[in-house]
Amino acid sequence: MVPDRDMIKTKEQIDGIRESGKINTAVLNYVEENIREGISTEEIDRMVYEKTTELGGIPAPLHYDGYPKSVCTSINSQVCHGIPAEDSVLKSGDIVNVDVSTIYNGYFSDSSRMFCIGEVEEATAKLVCVAKECMEKGIEQVKPWSFLGDVGEAVHNHALRNGYSVVREIGGHGVGIEFHEDPFVSYVTKRGTDTLMVPGMVFTIEPMINMGTDEIYIDDENGWTAFTDDGKPSAQWEVTVAVTEDGYEILAY
Ligand code: MF3
Ligand code: CO
Repeated sequence: MVPDRDMIKTKEQIDGIRESGKINTAVLNYVEENIREGISTEEIDRMVYEKTTELGGIPAPLHYDGYPKSVCTSINSQVCHGIPAEDSVLKSGDIVNVDVSTIYNGYFSDSSRMFCIGEVEEATAKLVCVAKECMEKGIEQVKPWSFLGDVGEAVHNHALRNGYSVVREIGGHGVGIEFHEDPFVSYVTKRGTDTLMVPGMVFTIEPMINMGTDEIYIDDENGWTAFTDDGKPSAQWEVTVAVTEDGYEILAY
């Protein structure tokens, strides 16, 4: 598949997304310095709101499609879109994804990291580590005239080699002028298939890697949070990348 014209950004637009991404990365660095056992995910939400606005940005999740908070915080068997809450307190052994998205000067960026709280079981810590490697294997495949399927297959293979599964229903997305744009970036696709990558495309790589089944369900009370069907942990890392003339540039980490 050949990308539509609106999937290809101008240099000026990429410059704007890069500036937005700098704030996004700085906010995640701030979370990384302050996250610890005993704080609530509501406190992470406050940190993200305060740091983002201090740097001149707007948290993109806030009021997006009715989403109530500034960040997603997904703990253990929560796959993604965990909603911060005062009574959700981080305890030793938890793994948590903090997913930050920023609007700056009209441009969107999106990235997330995992954090291990206190003493995490070895098997769970390995999941976090392999999920990061999966993202990195995907990034390595980003170059013009290759296919998004090359990214998907590299991610999927690394997960399978480690005995894990990959979430199918939720994936990456174009980003920059809006929060979620085309293309959908799947991590279960095959080499040489899906959208052709061309210079100027900007999208996220954000595979969700599950320790057990790839099946998920959405919390029917809040309508947002995805959980693993079997209650086993899930881990996710996310970057915003641009396709350049000879490879890629990470715009938000
Ligand atoms: N940041 C998420 C992503 O990676 C999207 C969250 S939508 C929200 O695509 F409304 F839940 F914030
Ligand atoms: Co995203």
